[in-house]
Amino acid sequence: MASRLVRVLRGERLHPPPIWLMRQAGRYLPEYRAVRARFPDFLSLVHDPEQAARVTLQPVERFDLDAAILFSDILVVVAALGWELRFSEGEGPLLAPLRAASDLASLRPRQEALAALDSITATVRLVRAGLDADKALIGFAGGPWTVATYMLGGGGGEQRRGRAYRRAFADPGLVDRLLDILTPVTADFLLAQAEAGADVLQIFESWAGDLPEPFFRRWVSAPTVKIMTRIRKRFPDLPVIGFARSAGLLLPSYHADGGVDALGLEQNVPIALARRLLGRDVPLQGNLDPRILLAGGPLMADEVRRILEESADGPHVFNLGHGVLKETPPEHVAALVTLVRGG
Ligand code: CP3
Repeated sequence: MASRLVRVLRGERLHPPPIWLMRQAGRYLPEYRAVRARFPDFLSLVHDPEQAARVTLQPVERFDLDAAILFSDILVVVAALGWELRFSEGEGPLLAPLRAASDLASLRPRQEALAALDSITATVRLVRAGLDADKALIGFAGGPWTVATYMLGGGGGEQRRGRAYRRAFADPGLVDRLLDILTPVTADFLLAQAEAGADVLQIFESWAGDLPEPFFRRWVSAPTVKIMTRIRKRFPDLPVIGFARSAGLLLPSYHADGGVDALGLEQNVPIALARRLLGRDVPLQGNLDPRILLAGGPLMADEVRRILEESADGPHVFNLGHGVLKETPPEHVAALVTLVRGG
């Protein structure tokens, strides 16, 4: 019997819905902080299969969530390509900024990049072996466009993001060429995770939302099609969730063109409206505001009830509209799971 998450992603309506949370493993959990403290930096933990597997399972064990999401990051592909990446406390990811086509020549060839991600597929194998059969394991990668914005800007944050967009629109051909490198590696990496035992894949296209339509089609939808074509060929039934954050009115074309099975929604998308635009059979995932999870209490209870009601007429996976915030009390997550399951 397939897990509850996989059943919903194939179109079944389940009440209560399966629940997992983006960024469910991480700094809000004391047991995560204890493991993390033994590593000099975040990436060393990500590349240690045993400890990464342990951290992946922590939230599932504590909260009985319906799925584990591989503990990794969307930017591991960048480091695997030989591009400079570090995570600094408080500042988030810092990368060498990609300035010109000549920078692309220094990137490692695809096979070498994939080999540099072996420790992560090893984590997938360990997690799958340690997870109950009724729980799904979600593998993931960043959408090529989102990863490209970090490379073009040299990191996240407003200033670096501004630089990424300036470079992209000053030289769209550079973005095309960068995406031509990132897209096949991303597909290879997702396939490697599926081969290692991931039951579901999610594409985190966190920066999908602020492109004009023609560029959205060119830099978000077109790479998604290429990735999905490769996945479908090898794993025709493996559910793929596309989280094209803030895509708004471009969601229907992302779904129709991109070919993902299910869509992740951030908190400001009314689920009923999304159903009207997409049809009732498209599985939707979301979309409690992570700040409301942080607040907890009766407001959270009201919001959970509203989301459950609004989503009840179609396949729905309960989740947040974005990742768990690091200040979130773990007890609020426990309360959320109880609420969703009808307690
Ligand atoms: O969801 C999960 O629990 C799985 C693990 C996961 C992480 N990052 C762990 C992480 C996933 C799925 C991601 C995705 C990710 N990473 C995205 C897409 C989703 C989104 O949030 O929009 C993006 C844009 C990134 C890039 C990234 N990684 C940033 C901007 C940061 C710094 C901000 C922060 O929260 O620290 C990271 C670091 C990171 N990724 C941490 C974790 C647990 C914190 C590092 C630490 O523990 O020291």
